[in-house]
Amino acid sequence: MNTKTSWNDAHVLVTGAASGIGLATALELARRGARLALVDRDEPRLEAAREAVARVGRAPTAHRLDVADREAVGAFAERFVVDAAPLDLLVNNAGVAVVAPFTATSATDWDWVFGVNVRGPLELTRALLPPMLARGRGHLAFVASLAGLIGAPGMVAYSTTKFALVGFAEALRLELAGTGVDVTVVCPGYVRTGLHAATRYQNVGFRRFLDAPPRWYGLEADEVARALVGAVEAKRPLVALGPEALGWYLKRFSPALSFALTRLTARLAGVMEAGGCTS
Ligand code: NAI
Repeated sequence: MNTKTSWNDAHVLVTGAASGIGLATALELARRGARLALVDRDEPRLEAAREAVARVGRAPTAHRLDVADREAVGAFAERFVVDAAPLDLLVNNAGVAVVAPFTATSATDWDWVFGVNVRGPLELTRALLPPMLARGRGHLAFVASLAGLIGAPGMVAYSTTKFALVGFAEALRLELAGTGVDVTVVCPGYVRTGLHAATRYQNVGFRRFLDAPPRWYGLEADEVARALVGAVEAKRPLVALGPEALGWYLKRFSPALSFALTRLTARLAGVMEAGGCTS
């Protein structure tokens, strides 16, 4: 994926493609001539996404799949490898969030968020990487979060899954060096998408904020999609996006100052208050 023209005919699978960053990525790549396979668990929105992508580029295939269902992922991947053209890029994007202080989270919350955000990308990669290795080319992209680079108070479970994803991507990139398969992880700050409507909340401050964020705040999904595509083209290992990325640079420069500022911001925003909200 060295030049923009090489997207023509490239075969790309995007998970969580029915909404937000996944849909924006599928549209961006379809406009550039790629052949898309769209994966999501939400069938009606997946169908709408399939139609939207077909309007701007080649008709995509659409696959209803819960990425957290290990058996279903295995069965899907087996069929996909046999039936579809070899994959050039796998975008592991599907994700969910639990927004709650640690003490307000349950084991069920942790199973849910780990299943979708970590086991999903891991199992899909396990199933779809071997054909890439056999061809000696391919690219794996992961949509993590800045909450995977800076511990996020008030959303410990989500933050933990995104740190896991960043670590998985980094270790995998090292293991795959020289095989022709590259790895990119994208870490955005706040993005205006449907994620927040689907979030499990146990936190008053965050809910107040995410229900009505200031108009000037947040990235748009298509900005993230363009950055992801650019990072894959440039074979960049990691991109941090949004003004909150400054916190990550600060953390590397002065962890103590970063800790104090993150905690102060979280306190002012009330993101560590538990209770009062439903899923
Ligand atoms: P979104 O809610 O608009 O899109 C997520 C898509 O994933 C939805 O279409 C949903 O149906 C699908 N999905 C959820 N669980 C699934 C499952 N088990 N199997 C298959 N599909 C499933 O949210 P958004 O923001 O576009 O999220 C995409 C990725 O970006 C996620 O991994 C999220 O954690 C990450 N992210 C989002 C940020 C934000 O502020 N919106 C910030 C940083 C990262």
